[in-house]
Amino acid sequence: MIVDAETWADRWRHDYLDDVRSQLEPGHDKRAELTEQVVEFIAAWFDKVDDMDAYGPDPSPETVQHLQTAPAETGRSLESILEDLDLAGESGIYHPSGGHMSYIPNSGMYTAALGEFLAASLNRYTGVATAAPGFTAIEHGVVKWLTSLFELGDEASGLLLSGGSMANFTGVVTARVAQLGDDFTNGVVYVTSHTHHSTAKAARLAGFRSDQIVAVGVDSDLRMDIDHLNSLIAADREAGKEPFLIVGSAGTTDTGTVDPLDALADVAQREEMWFHVDGAYGGFFQLTERGKARMPGLGRADSIALDPHKGLSIPFGVGALLARSESQLVEAHQGRGAYLRDEDTYVGLRDIASLGPELSRPFRGLSVWLPLQLHGVGAFRDALDLSLNLANHAFKRLSSINGVQARWAPDLSIVAFGFDDDDLGRAAWQAVNDDGRAHLSPTIIDDRFILRLAILNRRTSFDHVDQAIDIIEKTLIG
Ligand SMILES: Cc1ncc(COP(=O)(O)O)c(C=O)c1O
Repeated sequence: MIVDAETWADRWRHDYLDDVRSQLEPGHDKRAELTEQVVEFIAAWFDKVDDMDAYGPDPSPETVQHLQTAPAETGRSLESILEDLDLAGESGIYHPSGGHMSYIPNSGMYTAALGEFLAASLNRYTGVATAAPGFTAIEHGVVKWLTSLFELGDEASGLLLSGGSMANFTGVVTARVAQLGDDFTNGVVYVTSHTHHSTAKAARLAGFRSDQIVAVGVDSDLRMDIDHLNSLIAADREAGKEPFLIVGSAGTTDTGTVDPLDALADVAQREEMWFHVDGAYGGFFQLTERGKARMPGLGRADSIALDPHKGLSIPFGVGALLARSESQLVEAHQGRGAYLRDEDTYVGLRDIASLGPELSRPFRGLSVWLPLQLHGVGAFRDALDLSLNLANHAFKRLSSINGVQARWAPDLSIVAFGFDDDDLGRAAWQAVNDDGRAHLSPTIIDDRFILRLAILNRRTSFDHVDQAIDIIEKTLIG
């Protein structure tokens, strides 16, 4: 058959496009095969979650090097890639393990991971509402549910970000713009030495000097000292400075302590300052009766940082910033460009890009919305309640052990305690981590060694707590 030049060119183009595309776009059957391999890998992982130790051995230098191998020009099998992933997962903290009670735990959630898979697969753009109004509506719906949880009022708004650090950053920037405008050289931010470092980091990123971030003293329960705050504000005003932001903690990282939020809100109101609450660890306890009762005044904040990837067990990568006034968020974050529409609302939905620092962003809302819809709010409330119960149980047991100084009854679900002898305390910590079933991380308060049981992983059980305390008790007895 003789093929004319035009047909030949057509065929060549078709084959060429096919060749290029097929390399990156597996067809229906191949997609199913790859997905099945991944699903099997995940199933095997979840099957062993309940029996997992909390910590794996350090990786060898060869493993570290192997895992940094540059990609080759041609691809390799998914099987061999998953083998590498298995290898990579052997070391470090096993976050899904119920024995993980160090730092701030996050168990993760299979159904939220499905939400992420769906979001990434559909790959719809949620930076501006016109691009995906339905998806944007879903995400705004999640944020609305959150603002109603704290009764922030009809003008309230917010957005999902990558974590608590970005939520604190967005809160600080919003406060700076609302309170100080363009000249913020004299502004002062008030925190305590127990406020998470991400707030001071946020203030520095927002352009403040270190001397503009002031640590207020704490009382014997480690809560911000209101009298000291008042005197610092008065002295700073006297010196011509502009006190503009008070940051309270709804659960500090070290001890889970809740600052006197109601009293802080009073000071902020009287002084016409912004009141930001870092609820990255503890904010979601608002879902529980006891948690809500322990955080009075939280709903009076101008902005609140939350971490669904802590309190709701959503996989890492989802924080939230809520603000009492959407217009103040917009004032601080709206951006303009000839390539954008003039309006930043569409069918009543505000562009999420106008509320925070990101333009392109993942559709984070799905990994929160899907499990909330699927399991219902009550399931999350029960999990948080369980953490409160476990913390009470741990505190009672620790209080009765000779050599343990259980000075602070837990406000929420972190139990922090000292020892008569710091060296013995260190030995107890080492013994728990060496055993491997639990993983704990300590801190230092007033130059003393403090150990913590940070309970937030919904797989943590009475057995996990008891076996860690048994080891501590045994070490102290000698
Ligand atoms: C109280 C508090 N705030 C902020 C953060 C920072 O959150 P992220 O790690 O999600 O950035 C943490 C992290 O543990 C925290 O405990």
